[in-house]
Amino acid sequence: MSSDVSADPHDQPATAALGAAHPLSRGVTAAAPLIRAYQGERMPQPPVWFMRQAGRSLPEYRALREGTAMLDACLDPQMASEITLQPVRRHGVDAAIFFSDIVVPLRLAGVAVDIVPGRGPVLERPVRTASDVARLTAADPAALAPDDVCGPLGPVIEGVRRTVDQLGPTPLIGFGGAPFTLAAYLVEGGPSKDHLRARTLMHADPESWQALMRWCADVTGAFLRAQVLAGASAAQLFDSWAGSLSLDDYAKHVAPASTRALEHVRGLTYDAEGGARNVPLVHFGVGTGELLKAMRDTGADVIGVDYRIPLDEASRRLGHSVPLQGNVDPAMLGAPWSVLEQHVRDVIERGASAPAHVLNLGHGVPPDTDPGVLTRLVELVHGLD
Ligand code: CP3
Repeated sequence: MSSDVSADPHDQPATAALGAAHPLSRGVTAAAPLIRAYQGERMPQPPVWFMRQAGRSLPEYRALREGTAMLDACLDPQMASEITLQPVRRHGVDAAIFFSDIVVPLRLAGVAVDIVPGRGPVLERPVRTASDVARLTAADPAALAPDDVCGPLGPVIEGVRRTVDQLGPTPLIGFGGAPFTLAAYLVEGGPSKDHLRARTLMHADPESWQALMRWCADVTGAFLRAQVLAGASAAQLFDSWAGSLSLDDYAKHVAPASTRALEHVRGLTYDAEGGARNVPLVHFGVGTGELLKAMRDTGADVIGVDYRIPLDEASRRLGHSVPLQGNVDPAMLGAPWSVLEQHVRDVIERGASAPAHVLNLGHGVPPDTDPGVLTRLVELVHGLD
């Protein structure tokens, strides 16, 4: 029953070419090391960027954010764009990731959600019962209008446009939360440890669960699509909390919705030498060593790996079928440089067993990270021969 969450071609957006002004169509970002690596081409040095590279580790971020609530900052196109550019200027990373949050499209769809500093997303009214789900899903995700700058996603579209205008050849990565991670916040009402309430709903009321997952897929799908249409050259789906699921539950009750979310951007193509290509799609989760293959099978081109399993082992589990992204342990950023450097070199060596590798952390930059360490890390990677 749950497997038909993704099989609904009638209300899925069709395959479409990106506009002529898109950075991939214009050839501005198509040959960037990040894009080539995402497409499976091994680069002399792995391209490098960091999850949560924009944020509290940067003094210029803290200064700009002063007095502005997190979600207000995300919905201010000028501020979101400036914050997105800060780590690119400072560290010289090979990609920007759009400054926003996975709960932004929930807010735009009418959900009363806020981000509490130091805690994370908190819902005014958790979605716990069948009637809660029915009330939530009564709001049509199509109303988010990912291609309409005058629609609810307008501030996101405008923020992305401003950003890519200034990035030049550095690709912008768009992102969204995967349906399970969004549902975990919606059902729990806030951050939780093992997402027990969400996982219980999955089994106690599979029909409501399926409706919830489908809605989350379309909401996050619209968010992803808006960013890609407006100029993002790649997209990453974050299933941060999927690691709390068994493989069986993931495959049955979650993966079809992740497939559905990715379908919103899967068909977006641009012309390249040798024919049309799709915008590369990355799928990342935390503690997902057992789920890697199932995550790939949702339609991702690249798998992001957290720091708990080495990249050579991850690639083996995937049959060396896709490029990998990862997986420097964020805890190492606070270790002496020689320890960090040795770890980074080991990650790169192990990443060599995958078809291609993009260096990243195994999760986000911790807020108390010395930004100088990140800059030095980028220099190290770019200087490798
Ligand atoms: O630089 C980037 O990576 C882009 C920006 C980005 C943010 N959130 C900004 C943010 C991205 C990609 C996210 C994704 C996100 N948000 C995820 C998936 C990635 C992951 O970390 O697993 C999740 C689970 C969320 C939900 C969320 N939002 C959390 C857990 C928190 C942290 C709460 C805290 O204060 O520690 C947020 C808030 C948030 N999102 C901040 C930033 C920069 C901190 C807000 C602040 O500066 O006060």
